[in-house]
Parts: sequence; structure tokens; C-alpha cells
Amino acid sequence: MVKKVLVTGGAGYIGSHTVVELFRSGYEPLILDDYRNSEVSVIGRIKQITGKAPEVILGDVCDEDLVNEIFQNHKLSGVIHFAAYKAVGESVEKPLKYYSNNISGLLSILKPICEMGNIPFVFSSSCTVYGEPQGLKEVNEQTPRSIPTSPYGYTKWLGEQIIRDAFLAQKELRLMNLRYFNPIGAHPSGLIGELPIGKPNNLVPFITQTAAGIHKELVIFGNNYPTIDGTCVRDYIHVVDLAEAHVKAIDYLLLQQKGCRETVNIGTGTGTSVLELVNTFKDENKIDLKFSFGPERPGDVIEIFANVNYAKSLLGWTSKNDTRDAVRDAWNWEKSIRNIK
Ligand code: WQD
Repeated sequence: MVKKVLVTGGAGYIGSHTVVELFRSGYEPLILDDYRNSEVSVIGRIKQITGKAPEVILGDVCDEDLVNEIFQNHKLSGVIHFAAYKAVGESVEKPLKYYSNNISGLLSILKPICEMGNIPFVFSSSCTVYGEPQGLKEVNEQTPRSIPTSPYGYTKWLGEQIIRDAFLAQKELRLMNLRYFNPIGAHPSGLIGELPIGKPNNLVPFITQTAAGIHKELVIFGNNYPTIDGTCVRDYIHVVDLAEAHVKAIDYLLLQQKGCRETVNIGTGTGTSVLELVNTFKDENKIDLKFSFGPERPGDVIEIFANVNYAKSLLGWTSKNDTRDAVRDAWNWEKSIRNIK
């Protein structure tokens, strides 16, 4: 019997790549999305990649009646919850938008899961829950979560807290938080990738848009940090590797005979500076990217990257792609959406 997995936000950047990997692993993804951060065309492209079109329910994850209807009408083997706002900078400008959407959406999904008690649940969490990791650089799942530096980070911090408390009240639940580091890149087919709305907040889409001539130059926010070359360090993970980690998470939870609550870092285990990533992009794609150094961006963590031993021991998962693969696939995607040869 094919296992149906509800993917909220499944038409989005990470969601769509996860839907592809779910199909590839024999699951039947069911997407809940209202396309506020995506496009309907993504569904057809998923079919082009996999040969199968996922069933899509058009709607808002915060619509509790709709969500309850989905749980009543579909026999779900698992749920992966992506649908949330995720721009750190925007969350500082519009905190209520983030708290209401991200927390209400989680509660809307978690309620039927707790009522039914037996559906494995994977939560899209984030390394932002570590905040500025108290002078550490490499963080593991036991590294104390510190005060997040943005409302976005707080919604992930609070989300993990809600999941923890739900589990303490119902030990039969099977729950997993995946703490993403910096997702980058696109599907090697060039058919799906990141679709930032307006000016991108994140580094890699800004790099590829600058390479496409949309921006005059990239401004690197700060080059006097106490790091290898003065620019911030992150753990950049290829979005396909991240998608595969979600399938491994569902595989794992389905095998559990009793309740569990796990939290897993999903990164490469390697720190890469902004300047190193820019130079990798230039070298891999043979592009002379224009950039300059500008003022530091408030709220930026100086250096953080993942200890990924637990992902390997618990899920049998490790990343397979490196930043070279990711910047190549990111540029390939940018060229395909801009019709650049
Ligand atoms: C990376 C580095 C910037 C743009 C992201 C996601 C967040 C979470 C964590 C998953 C920083 C620098 C950027 C630019 C630059 N992921 N930069 N010039 O802030 O680490 O957060 O990962 O939950 O959702 O937003 O990512 O790509 O914004 O910045 O110099 O034009 O690139 O200062 O050092 P960040 P980012």
C-alpha cells in the first residue's frame, strides 16, 4: 500500500524538492499550498522530473477546518510541515505576520496529529534556534538554544517548544525537528529552484541575480569579522540533500514502534565564508561577479556550522553535494528562468 505523506508548503523551494524525493522513494505526496510563496507551474515541473503529478489541495495551513477535513479524507502515513514565512530580515519589520502565520499554522497541523496520535510528523526547524551560539562555531543538537536574533528564529524556537510540550503530554507521538542550516542550489534538471519574491534576502539568489544582470553588484555585508577572511561563515547545504533528509526522517519515524521526539541538524558539517562562496561561484561558473564590501547586517550570526554526526547515526543520512555543485545548480536554474543560454 503506497504511503501518503502530507507536505504543507509542498510547492515551495524546499517543499517541491522534497516532493520529488518522496516520489523517488515510493511515497505518495499530498501537497497543501496556497502558492503565496510559489507558482502553480512548479506542479507541472515536478511531473516533468518524476513522471507523476502530486495531488494538490489549494489552501492555507492556518485554516483549521480545511486541515481537519484533509486528515478526515486522507489516510496519511506522515506529515512534513514546511508552510511558514522564512525571511529573517522581513520578520524584524513584520513580526506579527510571522508569529500569527508560523505559530497558527503549526498549531493547526499539530492538533489533528495529537488527536489521532499515530501520524509521524516532521517539523521544518532552523539553525536560527541556536542564535549566536555563545562563541561556538560548530553546533550539535545538545548545544543550548540561545535567544534567537529575529522573530523568524523565535517562531522556530517556539515551534520546537510546542512540539516538546505536545510530546511530554502524549508520549505515543512520533515527532522530529530538522534544523536546517543554509539551503542553497536547485534541482540539477533546472526545472525547480528558489523563486524569491522581489529583492532576495538570501545570499545565493542575490549572487545568481547579479550574475544575470538584475543587480549591479553584490554587497557583502561586513568583512571585518573574526573569521577566516573577515566575512560571515555558514553551513551551505544543497537543497536536494536537504530534501533527501526529509525522506530519511519519515522512513525513520515510520519504523518506530513507540513514540519518540528527535531533533537533528541538517547541514554539511563544513563552514564556508561568504567570500569563499562567491569565489566558488565565480570559479565554477566562469563568471566575473561584481561585488563590494558594505556595512555589517544587523542580526547576522558571525559563524555557525553543523555537527552532523547525529543525522548520520540516527537517519543514515549525509550530504552528498558540496558548495561547488550547489552554485552550479543555482546558476543553471537562474539561467533557465531568465532564458539565458
Ligand atoms: C548568509 C550570509 C549575510 C545577502 C538563512 C535563512 C534562514 C535560515 C538560516 C533556514 C550572511 C550574507 C547575504 C547579501 C551578504 N535557514 N549576505 N549579502 O541570514 O544565514 O539565514 O539561513 O531556516 O531562513 O534566511 O542567510 O543567505 O541571508 O545570509 O553578504 O546580499 O550572506 O550577511 O552573512 P542567513 P543569508
